Amino acid sequence: MKFKKKGFDYSLLETTFTPPEDINFVNWEEVFGNKNPLNVEIGCGNGHFLTQQALGNPNENFIGIDLKDYRIVKSRMKENLLQLTNVRWICGDAGASIEKMFPDKSLNKIYMTFPDPWPKKRHWKHRLFQAHFIPLIAKKLADNGKFIFISDHEGYYQWCIELIEAQKELVIVSHDYDISMTESAFGKIWQAEQRTFHSFTLEKSVKL
Ligand SMILES: C[S@@+](CC[C@H](N)C(=O)[O-])C[C@H]1O[C@@H](n2cnc3c(N)ncnc32)[C@H](O)[C@@H]1O
Repeated sequence: MKFKKKGFDYSLLETTFTPPEDINFVNWEEVFGNKNPLNVEIGCGNGHFLTQQALGNPNENFIGIDLKDYRIVKSRMKENLLQLTNVRWICGDAGASIEKMFPDKSLNKIYMTFPDPWPKKRHWKHRLFQAHFIPLIAKKLADNGKFIFISDHEGYYQWCIELIEAQKELVIVSHDYDISMTESAFGKIWQAEQRTFHSFTLEKSVKL
């Protein structure tokens, strides 16, 4: 999505996948030149968490997805600074991108870090985590894959828990989270405000 803020080097978006133009199946093995596990962050913001993950896990691949182009530009700047070769970016809607650009059972981990909570009831329809989102995650996760969510917003967390309890494809296996997830731009803001974090990890209930 084009926001075009001043002072950003938008040429950095040239190597970024930009749906809907690029919303086709991608051969990620060809893109990365290896078969390493694929991990995705939904709403990666300025790329703090994902670039640190990529730095610390050179034998895995990471793809950040965010709607806002200037955030992807900031993410790419971090990628360049850290000279990462195992990270790519998609500038577009996360649901549509995951649906169309990744093969089924291809994702090792999907992270959702501090998604927009849309606190007002009339805006809940904008929340990314919806009933129809669960089968999509289940379809795209590898058999031992994990979906990891963290939020400072208890209402959004409870909303997710109710949707998870109403289905059988994915189960909560933990409420712990890696402290590095709180080192994102928004995570640091909420840490400074001493907010409580709410997290869950989902796995497939049936592994075929
Ligand atoms: C509250 S910010 C959190 C950013 C980052 N995860 C962090 O912790 O700093 C939520 C992010 O989700 C992105 N976002 C919202 N809806 C999205 C969607 N449908 N697809 C992809 N990204 C989305 C926003 O652009 C924003 O960067």
